[in-house]
Formats: sequence, structure tokens, C-alpha cells
Amino acid sequence: MDFKVADLSLAAFGRREIQLAEHEMPGLMAVRKEYADSQPLAGAKIMGSLHMTIQTAVLIETLVALGAEVRWVSCNIFSTQDHAAAAVVVGPEGTPEDPKGVPVFAWKGETLEEYWWCTEQALTWPGGDGPNMILDDGGDATLLVHKGAEYEKAGAVPSTSEGDSEEWQVILDLLRRTVGPDKRWTAIASRIKGVTEETTTGVHRLYEMFKTGSLLFPAINVNDSVTKSKFDNKYGCRHSVIDGLNRATDVLIGGKVAVVAGYGDVGKGCADALRGQGARVIVTEIDPICALQAAMDGFQVTTLDDVVGIADIFVTTTGNFDIITADHMSRMKHNAIVSNIGHFDNEIDMAGLARIPGIVKTEVKPQVHTWTFPDGHAVIVLAEGRLMNLGCATGHPSFVMSNSFTNQVIAQIELFTKTEQYPIGVYVLPKHLDEKVARLHLGALGVKLTKLTKEQAEYIGVDVEGPYKADHYRY
Ligand code: NAI
Repeated sequence: MDFKVADLSLAAFGRREIQLAEHEMPGLMAVRKEYADSQPLAGAKIMGSLHMTIQTAVLIETLVALGAEVRWVSCNIFSTQDHAAAAVVVGPEGTPEDPKGVPVFAWKGETLEEYWWCTEQALTWPGGDGPNMILDDGGDATLLVHKGAEYEKAGAVPSTSEGDSEEWQVILDLLRRTVGPDKRWTAIASRIKGVTEETTTGVHRLYEMFKTGSLLFPAINVNDSVTKSKFDNKYGCRHSVIDGLNRATDVLIGGKVAVVAGYGDVGKGCADALRGQGARVIVTEIDPICALQAAMDGFQVTTLDDVVGIADIFVTTTGNFDIITADHMSRMKHNAIVSNIGHFDNEIDMAGLARIPGIVKTEVKPQVHTWTFPDGHAVIVLAEGRLMNLGCATGHPSFVMSNSFTNQVIAQIELFTKTEQYPIGVYVLPKHLDEKVARLHLGALGVKLTKLTKEQAEYIGVDVEGPYKADHYRY
């Protein structure tokens, strides 16, 4: 088996944590039971690009239990939990000397070159007949396949131009090496039946590609299942934003001024959590609806420029770029904490920060750096501007990820087994499946659901068994 992880001797620790996680992931375990005999993913060759954590290990082993062959990478250079990666490679039946699990290419602290090399490895199926499915988070695997196929179609040599980001240069280097007359990427793209995408940022990319006519295979938008974005993005971040801040800095949050940029699902969870710790939370927004929500939830809503000099903690949650600029950081209080929980690292202008003449970067510990300005004040930047909850802590806890990943498994089964029902496009799962995911998680929390009578169901115009809401309902 080919794989590359940090240290296989961590597998036993990883396995013990996977066993704890399985108990907290009732949706995934129920799906394993339901499909144990029918094996709906037999023949599926799934390339996964999603944070290689303990929770993801339970997802991977669920896909395998349903018949899939899997190869995996992380979708972020800092988010891999090395013991989880080791346990997945070794597998429940193997040993570090004789691994019998799933090929994983991921370790905590990859360089950008290593990150994209890993993605290429997981997309390179032994024997050349796969993958036929992608499970993506943020869209990097989908992007690589599309860009490769685009260059091959145009017969063009990928070349860098001035102003390209460091990461884009790395991608172009990889493509220069791999795009060629054998049309490797075109072949990969043609075999793929579809992709299931985990997050807001990746979904945004998919809709853009569909709009411009460049999308090469169908996609299921897992993010916009209600049981994903209204749970993982909100309640997951409500948990893991504090975990990231605590593990990175251990500053007392109570009494501090915290700015949350963006009041979407992630922003709502972060603002709630920071308020729960006793911080005075200020929100920034560009959308009047979300700004009004934040105001009516009791938060001050203003611009970053207004409060940049008084806040102690900054968290960006926008999925947009250039939210905190180098100029903003030059005006912050000494040791203000600057962090991002949105998908990509461009929410904070790290490149601009590094270009300030005389600035000094000091590593406090991995993923925690002070940047000291020539005037003597410093800012503390978490995870080099990347997802702080996964870079500085361990991401979302198992129970909430069970909701997200049960959607992922159902979406993989949908696209793989009913391919002909999904022409190229971007789809969300039907509401009855969303309700099913929620239902699978009620028992573990002791929830007793009220049952509609037939008459009540008729009165509100739904079926006794659901779905209970129209598609336009917003929760
Ligand atoms: P969303 O679209 O619900 O929320 C983003 C909000 O930011 C919107 O309300 C938007 O109006 C606002 N915004 C955009 N530009 C802004 C600006 N210049 N200033 C202030 N506000 C601005 O998206 P969601 O679901 O909250 O996701 C946000 C990001 O977090 C995405 O990149 C997503 O992929 C990522 N994500 C990260 C997770 C993690 O574990 N770290 C988990 C789930 C999502």
C-alpha cells in the first residue's frame, strides 16, 4: 500500500480515539448498519480531500464499510491529526508493520508543495482506473482536476505571471509537470461520476464553474443540507473557536473585546461562543439582513476601522478575502489576537504583513506567531492565518461532524448509484434525507419527537412522515 503519514506508531492512540468518536457519531454508525448488506458503494473509488482528523477517520471507515475503495488527503496544511492518519493507514485489522487500512497522504505541517503533491497522489489510482468519485472540502481536488483538464484541452503550457499568489505558483508548477499529451487530467475527469462538497467556499466555487459552463461532472452541495450548515458551521464553530483560542494562547476571554467579521452561520456560532465566555462582541457585516440579525441578537455592529484599535481578539468568518489588512494590524493593540476560521488563508493579508519593512516574526510555538512592528507593538497571529480551529485545536467535535458526514455518505451513495439522475449541475440533497440525518441523532440526545396526527398533517399540508417544511423554509 502506498501512503505518506508522519508516524505509524501513533496508530494505537488514533484507534482508541476513533473508538470514542464512533460512540459520538450515531448517524454514521446507523448508516453502516443500514447498508451493511447492500454495499451501495461497492465499485466506488473515492478520492477524499478533507481535514484528516479522528472524525474523518470514522467517515473514511464508513465509506469502506459500504464497499468503497478510498484514498485520502487533508484539505489544509495544518489540520491533520497525525494519530488519526496513522490509524486509518494501519486500519482496525493491521499493525504498523503490516498496515491494512486506507492510503492516506497527510501530516500536520505540510509545505504547500507537499500539500499539492499529496492531492496529486490521492488522485493517482494504482492501475489508473480511478478515482470515480471525489469527496471534497473547499474544492482543491476538484480544482486540480478541472485546471489540468482545461490546460490539456487548450493544449497550453501552464505559466505563472506576476502577482500570482505563492500557492497558485505551486499549483502551476505541478500542472506544468503533469499536463501533457497523455491527457492524464482529462482521463481522470472523464471517469469521475461526481463530487460531494463539504463547505461554503467549495460550494461557491462549484456554482461559479457551473455558471461559466466549465463544470465537468455533477456535484452535490452537502454544505447546504440544513443538518450540515446550520449545525457544523454554527454549533461546530461555537465549540471549536474557543478551543482554538484557548489552546493557542490561553488568554482569558471574559471581559475582552472580540470582533467577529461576518455573521453567517460560522459568524453566528463564533459570536455566541465568545459572548458565552463573557467577551464584549462586536460584529462586522456587509449584508443588511445579517447585520440586522446581529444587532437584534444584541451585538454592536460596526466597521472594522471603527474598532480596530480597541479590540483584543479578531476572528474572520467571511469566506471573503482581505478582511483584515496589514494596515489594520498596524493599528491594533499590543498582542491583539488575529485569527481566521473561514476556509482559506486570504481573509487576513499575511503576505502584506510579511512585506512591512522591519517587521519581525517570532514563533511562540507551532501555529502561534507574534509579528512585531517597528514601533514595538505586536499582534499574535494564529495558524498563519489559516483555519484556527483546525490549525490550533482539533476542529469540530464528533457529534456535530456525524451530522455533516452522514450527509456526505448519503450524497456519495446518491451520486454513485443514481448517476443518470444527476446531469452536470450542482444539487442539494432532498429534504427527506436531511430530516433522516437529524432523526438519526435525536436518540443520543434523549429527544422525544411529537408525532403529527393525520388531521394535523392535513391541516398544515404535509405528510405525517415528512418532509415537514417546504424547500424555501429557512430554519
Ligand atoms: P456564510 O455565507 O453563511 O457567512 C459569511 C458571512 O460573511 C456572510 O453573511 C457575508 O455577508 C459576510 N461577509 C462577506 N464579506 C464580508 C466583509 N468584507 N466584511 C464582513 N462580512 C462579510 O458562510 P459560512 O457558512 O458562515 O462560512 C464562512 C466560511 O467558513 C467559509 O469559508 C466556509 O467554508 C468556512 N467554514 C469553516 C469551518 C471551520 O470549521 N473552520 C466550518 C464551516 C465553514
